[in-house]
Amino acid sequence: MKILVTGGLGFIGSHTVVELQNSGYEVVIIDDCSNSSENVLEGIFAITGKRPVYEKIDLREKEKVGDFFTRHADIMGTIHFAASKAVGESVEKPLHYYENNLSTLIYLLKEITAKKRQSFIFSSSCTVYGQADKMPITEDAPVKMAESPYGNTKQIGEEIIKDTCKVNSGLQAISLRYFNPMGAHPSAEIGELPIGVPQNLVPFITQTGIGLREQLSVFGDDYPTPDGTCIRDYIHVVDLAKAHVVALERLLKGENPENYEVYNVGTGQGSSVLEVIASFERVSGKKLNYSIVERRPGDITTAYADTKKANEVLGWKACSTLDQAMKSAWDWEQKIRN
Ligand code: UD1
Repeated sequence: MKILVTGGLGFIGSHTVVELQNSGYEVVIIDDCSNSSENVLEGIFAITGKRPVYEKIDLREKEKVGDFFTRHADIMGTIHFAASKAVGESVEKPLHYYENNLSTLIYLLKEITAKKRQSFIFSSSCTVYGQADKMPITEDAPVKMAESPYGNTKQIGEEIIKDTCKVNSGLQAISLRYFNPMGAHPSAEIGELPIGVPQNLVPFITQTGIGLREQLSVFGDDYPTPDGTCIRDYIHVVDLAKAHVVALERLLKGENPENYEVYNVGTGQGSSVLEVIASFERVSGKKLNYSIVERRPGDITTAYADTKKANEVLGWKACSTLDQAMKSAWDWEQKIRN
């Protein structure tokens, strides 16, 4: 069965392509390589022994999207990762984010709803909850006012899909709200490749560990948490990738009573920044050079998932520990730098 993965050369996308191929799906990737590289195809091939079909398309080019679906009329499902994802950049370039993350979603949905029955998985984020009032965060926690255009594109994206599902019974869709993805494939053939200075904690840690950055800045130690640093739910990217496959299969098998659903994808475990650093030091055997600095504007104190819905309804559970995820991130960092 043929599945389209947009952004399939990116961090989460490439790991999901691997899991789809390992589950027997025929994958077609669309990527514009704006934040990824065609070399990732070699990594996917090294792991799975299969080469996915790949087309370099910018999804903002509406005609090309139409032409793609004409040529691949047998696509049964789409997993839509392609989007810009840097929170700070989205504040600087709001129109780029709204255009890149939302017009592309609309063009895809226009093509997809023209077909009879289609499954659609959307990359959403726990950012939609803002600072939730209760931990762990359940899916029915209120969606808070977005802190950034990036976060807003995830909220609006979910609304666009929900509204489209209401009037298209053939469209079966799931939004997956990711907590904090980290790590790499255990083979170290694919992993995270941030361009420039990493904005996220784990790649900054591994790049500091390898000597590419001098020091990690820990953004604040005066939060109301046990050690004063922020708490997040770090999930191994391979666990996250597997969640996409089970979500897709639920839709393909028609096991979903509603044609639009939302799931949290996290471990259910919160870890502080200092605990993540300690994990790095355990798995690498290295001391990490870090210092405590001011809080980063816009950071929330604590976010970790209630994963009951995904566990019970999807039958999916994160398996990896923080140390296992960290080891995979460290193995990958060492491999790409050597
Ligand atoms: C951010 C995005 C989220 C996105 C996620 C993964 C926001 C509000 N949320 O989450 O939508 O899905 O990235 O891409 O921006 N930290 C440091 N030093 C650093 C980097 C981070 O101390 O150099 C701390 C942060 O303060 C935070 C934690 O590490 O407490 C995690 O930060 P980060 O990896 O950037 O993810 P989030 O901000 O949680």
